[in-house]
Amino acid sequence: MVKAEFNSYAKTYKEWSDVQVLTGSHLIQKLKETIGNKAVSSIIDLGCGDGCGTNHLHKTLKSASTLGIDSSTNMIERATRNYSTINTLQKNPKGKSTPQLNFQLNTIQDLDAAYFSEFDLIYSNASLQWVSDLQSFFQKIKQSRAINSDQMVSFSLFTSKTLTELSQGLESIGRTDSLPTATFLDKESIGSILKSTFTDVVIWHESIVKPFTTINELFDSLKYTGVRDKDREKGLWTPRQLRDLKSYYEKNWGQYRLTYDVVYGVISR
Ligand SMILES: C[S@@+](CC[C@H](N)C(=O)[O-])C[C@H]1O[C@@H](n2cnc3c(N)ncnc32)[C@H](O)[C@@H]1O
Repeated sequence: MVKAEFNSYAKTYKEWSDVQVLTGSHLIQKLKETIGNKAVSSIIDLGCGDGCGTNHLHKTLKSASTLGIDSSTNMIERATRNYSTINTLQKNPKGKSTPQLNFQLNTIQDLDAAYFSEFDLIYSNASLQWVSDLQSFFQKIKQSRAINSDQMVSFSLFTSKTLTELSQGLESIGRTDSLPTATFLDKESIGSILKSTFTDVVIWHESIVKPFTTINELFDSLKYTGVRDKDREKGLWTPRQLRDLKSYYEKNWGQYRLTYDVVYGVISR
């Protein structure tokens, strides 16, 4: 069974999350082009993971106050330990103007429009694919923007085409495992939710292909970014299945690879 388990892999996430780092940098680049040199006063980063991307965002946009939220306790614990400014502020209680970066355990679906409206920028990189009802999430964002008309929104999320070679490969060798990406929406459905909710959203799309030298490296990359294959860990894969998967990749793709299919969106002021 292949599952997403971010909590167990908070420690290894940073070393293996190069695709997420890339989508984050593309998103921040677009934001910078939109905002110019204007500082942002408050940001919320939804599904902030280990806080590395949140820290980069906070510094690049010169935010006065940034909050990262995530539903994984281990991710929030790491983010707080490595990047939070709570301690700096305690040492410098007068420093009200000191930029603040903090983290909180929270679930995206539990936050309401009034809460979101407190922030000038709502940001989320590589996380919203895990939100079960994307339509109602974006409705809340719409309501939030009705309260705070200056609010900007920017996000990236993976589509159902993510890990497409692997899911076809598993099927071709007769394995019934479904990947967590089976629950992700396709590009068209995400686009139609966005266009029916916002009149001013700019959407773009990218496919990122990550090559690997060996099939084991491909599986490690999934595991250490939080996608676990429990059957493989328990040895429930036969040597023959692994050999068949390797030859599927070699025959169809000429290499071991994973595709990450991404939809980006920005709504400016
Ligand atoms: C692929 S990681 C992306 C982390 C980070 N944004 C980055 O750029 O590296 C996805 C994160 O979303 C978090 N997550 C998944 N579902 C969530 C939810 N419903 N509410 C809050 N966080 C969630 C996971 O715990 C994980 O840390």
